[in-house]
Amino acid sequence: MIKTLNLPCKGSKFFLGKAEGPRPIKTKGVKMDLSLTRPDDWHLHLRDGDLLGAVVSHSAHHFGRAIIMPNLKPPVMTTAAAVAYRESILKALPENSDFTPLMTLYLTDHMSPNEIKLARRSGVVFAVKLYPAGATTNSQDGVTDLFGKCLPVLEEMVEQNMPLLVHGEVTDPEVDIFDREKLFIDTILRPLVQKLPRLKVVMEHVTTLDAVRFVESCIEGSVAATVTPQHLLLNRNSLFQGGLQPHNYCLPVLKREIHRQAIVSAVTRGSKQFFLGTDSAPHERRWKECPCGCAGIYSSPVALSLYAMVFEQAGALDKLEAFTSFNGPDFYGLPRNTSKIRLSKAQWRVPESYAFESGEIVPMFAGQTLEWRPSTMD
Ligand code: DOR
Ligand code: ZN
Repeated sequence: MIKTLNLPCKGSKFFLGKAEGPRPIKTKGVKMDLSLTRPDDWHLHLRDGDLLGAVVSHSAHHFGRAIIMPNLKPPVMTTAAAVAYRESILKALPENSDFTPLMTLYLTDHMSPNEIKLARRSGVVFAVKLYPAGATTNSQDGVTDLFGKCLPVLEEMVEQNMPLLVHGEVTDPEVDIFDREKLFIDTILRPLVQKLPRLKVVMEHVTTLDAVRFVESCIEGSVAATVTPQHLLLNRNSLFQGGLQPHNYCLPVLKREIHRQAIVSAVTRGSKQFFLGTDSAPHERRWKECPCGCAGIYSSPVALSLYAMVFEQAGALDKLEAFTSFNGPDFYGLPRNTSKIRLSKAQWRVPESYAFESGEIVPMFAGQTLEWRPSTMD
């Protein structure tokens, strides 16, 4: 039996029947379904080669579009490279998939403003990603001096209405890793927004109360943020619980509980400036479980279940759809998806790993049982 419930949000696209109170009720033996406008993932690492083939279907299954990160080896620094990378993603998709990759360029000290014009004209590049040099995986070609080297490019981005996606951490080795996001806001991001108020900025994968406050202090429509499942569900204890946990290691690193709570509160109170961006970042198991393990959590297969869990726990399932499916396209000025997906209140066990030709990938919450199961609606 499928039980449909009515959530109290006026105009919600949730697919619900009888009024049962403000929250979905967990009833033994009764199945509960939500229907959501198909979500998009506004921050995704798809990699290339074998790994791309192994992971792309997990995203394509649930998401309509995704902003594809450019930190390949070598990085995607030109429109021509973005067009070629897009082709290889389309080739790797399952048959009949209508998943749309939205490409990005990797900002360097040497990018020319003309590249931004080309990117806009291409129709396939939707943003430019700022990695401070040395901040994270494959960021060695990133920016060393944003104001000194990149101002003409940023000004052209304003002209072309091209968003800047920001990995918001300073890289000074003397700055504590847990303070790097706050310092980046104070020394780079706030001055940037003041200097170029018409630049659209997405602060990617926010991890702190400071970031939440900063984003909310900016004009809606100019500055927004993506939020990952790990920064909503885990705090920094998860890195060490019962021994070192390499599969919970990502950058920016998990923070204190007060920061996690601030991010949960921002998204579940329905702020339009926050939207879904998984930062799903697969690395082969052998590169995670080794003496110098890579940063990145593979969340694509579990992300929607986890976001639903967060909103349900906060009694805010009526705010889930705007976060997964409306706030992102509205910020980017793109149409919302028209198709739907179903989220069923049904237990499923996350696989321990996904095998592919060159190895295996361990997903977030591997081996655990989750309560919400996404599926495509017929
Ligand atoms: O944990 C992360 N992994 N953070 C990033 O910024 C990059 C990503 C990756 O590409 O593996
Ligand atoms: Zn990322």
